[in-house]
Amino acid sequence: MENNNFDKIISFTKRRGFVFQSSDIYGGIGGFYDFGPLGVELRNNIKNSWWNYMVQKRENIFGLDSSIIMNPNVWRASGHIETFSDPLSECKKCHKRFRTDHLKENKCPECNGDLMEPRNFNLMFKTFIGPVEDDTSIAYLRPETAQGIFVNYKNILNTQRTKIPFGIAQIGKAFRNEITPGNFIFRMREFEQMEMEYFVKPGKEDEAFKYWIEQRVNWYTNVLGIKKENLRVREQEKDELAHYAKGCVDIEYNFPVGWLEIEGIASRGDFDLSQHQKFSGEDLNYFDIETKEKYLPSVIEPSCGLDRIFLAVLCDAFNEIEGGRTQESEEKEFLLKLKSNIAPVKVAVLPLVKNKEEITTKAKEVYNMLKDNFSCQYDETGAIGRRYRRQDEIGTPWAVTIDFESIVNNDVTLRNRDTMEQQRVKISDLISIINEN
Ligand code: GLY
Repeated sequence: MENNNFDKIISFTKRRGFVFQSSDIYGGIGGFYDFGPLGVELRNNIKNSWWNYMVQKRENIFGLDSSIIMNPNVWRASGHIETFSDPLSECKKCHKRFRTDHLKENKCPECNGDLMEPRNFNLMFKTFIGPVEDDTSIAYLRPETAQGIFVNYKNILNTQRTKIPFGIAQIGKAFRNEITPGNFIFRMREFEQMEMEYFVKPGKEDEAFKYWIEQRVNWYTNVLGIKKENLRVREQEKDELAHYAKGCVDIEYNFPVGWLEIEGIASRGDFDLSQHQKFSGEDLNYFDIETKEKYLPSVIEPSCGLDRIFLAVLCDAFNEIEGGRTQESEEKEFLLKLKSNIAPVKVAVLPLVKNKEEITTKAKEVYNMLKDNFSCQYDETGAIGRRYRRQDEIGTPWAVTIDFESIVNNDVTLRNRDTMEQQRVKISDLISIINEN
């Protein structure tokens, strides 16, 4: 893939209402983005798919929604206050700041000036709780959802009557004051994580680690439909590991700008539970009733970024067709080959013409029937070919066209986005045919 593809995808997401710059009318704000109508649908579909695959389909994984702001001692115990930082280099001449580990040479990439000595910059956003802004009221926006899980480990264990191995999963916003956000929504300061902490008996880590790598790759390829050749699993080098990790693999996607991480699967040992036990004074040991053993479980953590997956899915599905797909069209066309389970709109309902009341009335009847079952769009403006192309561009798998015959025969044409084949089907069979496919 070429880099200009990335620019095309970025402008496409804005043009069709997937992603907007945050605070757009004020010139934006670095590292923050908003998701428009189609973006919200696509994100919700990815989230629901993850939740279904990771939580609902499994007996021993439990869901959680913990608060974004927590007792600051959580971040003392987790090591984030002390060590969650990136090395920062500042230019002596233009005073621009950069991540030292992203610099290719020891000169400012903007003005070629000399750089100051690197210093560590903590990535957590600070705020104050209550009306007094002093050291005792400092709190942090969570930089990972994982700690909300660790501090609820005992609550889940006690209320869900579960046994080890079990997992706790959470989807939610996290915040990092990145020195250099970039690559569109890939590195943002406010982003959404989908994380699961899987608690196992010490000694069972390797087995669980392998299992979750396999499961996660399966979700990307078989459930989201990402092309196998655009995914790879890479083991992190020792010097890349986060402070809590004993080992970690990255699942990377081949973005138009290169291979980048969309998920990390880390072996966290008992680091977090033992730190929280020490700082809170609570006994977090697990007691095995059968063997009478008492221990702190080890943890395997599959952790992914929703926004990065959203971007990967769009890059993977995006096709630009010079000269169009049909004889009557000579224009450039875009086709978003999203798997139907995540497509923002499942069915477009299109009256062949908009100035025949019987046809538009019938089309609205069909639309009202379908919208209880699928996310649908009704569109009556413009030539039918142009309306098909508008839907192909946003990845709508099905288009239903209502014509003169529909009024007499109660049937419609059902068009497939990828093959462009049209079949004549009875209105009463539409829901089951679309569901089956
Ligand atoms: N919990 C792992 C991460 O936030 O990267």
